[in-house]
Amino acid sequence: MAKSTAPDRYGVMGYPVSHSRSPVIHRLFALQTKQDIRYELLQVSPEKLETAIRQFQRTGGKGLNITVPHKGEVVRLVDHLSERASTAGAVNTLTFDGSEISGDNTDGIGLLRDLSVNLGIDLEGANILILGAGGSTRGIVGPLLEMQPRSLRIANRTLGKAEALVDHFQILGPVSACRFDIVPVSETYDLIINATSAGLHGDTPPYPADAVSANTLCYDLSYGLRPTPFSVWAREQGAAQSVMGWGMLVEQAAESFKIWRGVRPDTAPVLKQMSVNA
Ligand code: ATR
Repeated sequence: MAKSTAPDRYGVMGYPVSHSRSPVIHRLFALQTKQDIRYELLQVSPEKLETAIRQFQRTGGKGLNITVPHKGEVVRLVDHLSERASTAGAVNTLTFDGSEISGDNTDGIGLLRDLSVNLGIDLEGANILILGAGGSTRGIVGPLLEMQPRSLRIANRTLGKAEALVDHFQILGPVSACRFDIVPVSETYDLIINATSAGLHGDTPPYPADAVSANTLCYDLSYGLRPTPFSVWAREQGAAQSVMGWGMLVEQAAESFKIWRGVRPDTAPVLKQMSVNA
């Protein structure tokens, strides 16, 4: 029988998803590594999520990236969940093998790669402050604690949510919670990560100005064509560096690509191209 020459199909499922850069990134990876793949943008509402995933699988799809707001919901649909996806309680990468679905989460490793490889930050012994205690925070706390920081504090508007994350993660390392507007500044923070969705909603909450010093790297998990409100704010506070999450986006994509294709693309030229386009 003649071998099918149709490219393997992948895609990103989200709601909304039109803003996603994943198709561009994966196309660049495919070109670079000479892989013949197709990568689609799939807008799917929460009610249709399971049907859409199963249909993609049934029609021969090989893998999916899952993005907002579905990352938590797909956990219950997978047959094999990686440890890091289980810890994060969220999946961003699905792989289809026959009737089986594997779920993984590359967000945390994507952030770590950006911080350590692209930005040259050593997190061992660092004091880290995370603003926000939603799904994004849950995905990054485990990997950050693995880097053996001195402390990791989670500040949130709703204190109870930060405390719940502390209960969940305290077995992994020195993590504590505080209110968003009362951040202790007895220590200086080496790294402040904005994991709130405030910027997406056009809000500028009272970010903790006293927590920023001239040695602080401020990292916004959000990214945009223009500087995000948090990244502008961080610059105004005199942070050592103010960075948007383009690097994390490209690095998490590279990890997904590696899971699917067995080869890790070189992210540097792709990141350069994305930020130039930004
Ligand atoms: P995501 O999956 O992006 O993390 P999420 O789970 O809805 O989204 O979490 C959003 C986070 O942003 C929460 O920590 C939220 O604070 P609350 O837990 O108090 O709701 C935070 N957030 C959103 N808007 C905010 C604002 N205007 N000020 C401060 N925090 C805000």
